Amino acid sequence: MFITFEGPEGSGKSTQITLLAAFLRQQGFTVVETREPGGSDIGDQIRDVLHDVGNKKMTSAAEILLYSASRAQLVREIIQPALAEGKIVLCDRYADSTLAYQGYGRGLNLGDLANITRFATGGLQPDLTLLLDIDVERGLARRKDGGDEMNRLDLEAVAFHQRVRQGYQQLVAADPARWIQINADRPVPLVQAELQEIVFARARGGDVKPGRHQARRASTT
Ligand code: TMP
Repeated sequence: MFITFEGPEGSGKSTQITLLAAFLRQQGFTVVETREPGGSDIGDQIRDVLHDVGNKKMTSAAEILLYSASRAQLVREIIQPALAEGKIVLCDRYADSTLAYQGYGRGLNLGDLANITRFATGGLQPDLTLLLDIDVERGLARRKDGGDEMNRLDLEAVAFHQRVRQGYQQLVAADPARWIQINADRPVPLVQAELQEIVFARARGGDVKPGRHQARRASTT
């Protein structure tokens, strides 16, 4: 089962994913945690280029192609093999981040982004996407207060991040069967309890059961 986590800056995705993975392992599931950009050796090198605040000259086209290159590597090297072995894959950001940030945030053509993304992923779609939603200014403040390293995207204006957040709302509205939206502006344990309930129910009802993992087909190019 392939589960992705999306949200504006400072929504607490990575903390929640770590806790959720530990919980699922306790329940007997085999879990792979990964993230974008990065998640593979090659992807991590691309991440460094993407996040370098010195790369002020990076064009929007170069940016989308670098995110896509990292994604193409991650899908084939990590995600598809894990899914084929019946594991649960928890991925911190995936293709929806491209639509939200480069599409709604930067204003790139959504149709072009969808085509590039389809090529990069071979059409692999998440079974479930959890949107950890938080007010943009609250999220950015959380990141600064948490002492997190600020990347190139963090330094964008608040208006950019507002467009990203609204973009996520449009993506949820367009495909409500795949998305579940969660209020991330609450204490970590409350958000975690909600995530555990949702994902555990899906994992039990889906094709991934403790001790009875089945290979599931993942599309390739
Ligand atoms: P994060 O690991 O702290 O979430 O940082 C990833 C940053 O990269 C975040 O600002 C969102 C951005 N991003 C995009 O703009 N497009 C993408 O396709 C992905 C995966 C991330």
